[in-house]
Amino acid sequence: MGEGISDYTKFCVDLRRHMWMAGVELDLRRLIWQIAVTGKYISAKIHESNRKLAGFKNIYGEEQLALDKSSDEILKNQLQFSGFVREYASEERDQVITIGQGQEKYFVTADPLDGSSLVDTNLAIGTIIGIHNGTILGKGRDTMVAALYITYGPLITMVYSAGKGTHEFVLNREGEYVLSQENIRLRDKGDIYSLGGLRRDWTEAHLKFVEYLEREGYKLRYSGGFVPDINQIVIKGGGIFTYPALRKSPEGKLRLLFELQPMAFLVEQAGGVATDGNNPILDIPVEKLGQRSPIYIGSRFEVETARAFLNEKQEVQG
Ligand code: AHG
Ligand code: MN
Ligand code: MN
Repeated sequence: MGEGISDYTKFCVDLRRHMWMAGVELDLRRLIWQIAVTGKYISAKIHESNRKLAGFKNIYGEEQLALDKSSDEILKNQLQFSGFVREYASEERDQVITIGQGQEKYFVTADPLDGSSLVDTNLAIGTIIGIHNGTILGKGRDTMVAALYITYGPLITMVYSAGKGTHEFVLNREGEYVLSQENIRLRDKGDIYSLGGLRRDWTEAHLKFVEYLEREGYKLRYSGGFVPDINQIVIKGGGIFTYPALRKSPEGKLRLLFELQPMAFLVEQAGGVATDGNNPILDIPVEKLGQRSPIYIGSRFEVETARAFLNEKQEVQG
């Protein structure tokens, strides 16, 4: 190999080497690698897409862009022949599909393209993946073995955890995922907040919490894309994202299985906290595919303070 390349590889840690050094089990290493590679194909699809509506509606009744569907197809096709995935559930499908022969270890959940309404604005969007051992029914804390998200922004980055810390990789010019931030840690207290839902739809208790953050001088960071909004808190090392219970929809908007469990797994592995306002997201039993939940996720201080405001009977400092 040329002088430059051998020097380069001597110092950079790529995804496969990192997972091996972290002691991640072989089949799981291969599966995470397979999914990370699929991110390149989805990114290519985003670039080539004609951005026309597919004219289909998913089970939530939302307009679906061609990209949502094609991203889901790309993922399913890649996982179907991976040899490690028995079943696949996606935000874009009404039911679980069997994509293995039956003896494969893992069950994969996907939000193939999160933030698709932002595609035409050229803001960052992402893919969210949960990897479960066997079943998805029950608590995420019992079923999840890994999680990752891929952010399609100025760079393509991938944040993953297989239960041994949370780590960020960036896709380099050579098409390799190289380590950019290892063992990410969230500070106990941050300084940014990311607020979903309309102010007029918030409950009184949630509004009081938000007004507290505003008095404390937190900086508002909200793009409307769950992946970049969470990624900002993860990479900046602190803060809170919330999409709360709303007056008309007490379950909030975000999906427990496809969006919240993976992010809760990653944030907990980075020393943060994720609740529905009271209970840890990973302790909420999954009973149906489309299950939604309010979410408060990020630094411990902010999530615990939200809990205090939401249980107004407790004395709240601030
Ligand atoms: P998706 O594109 O997968 O349907 O997810 C959209 C979600 C999530 O990305 C974001 O946090 C939320 O919608 C934003 O909702 P609002 O438009 O109500 O702010
Ligand atoms: Mn989503
Ligand atoms: Mn989506």
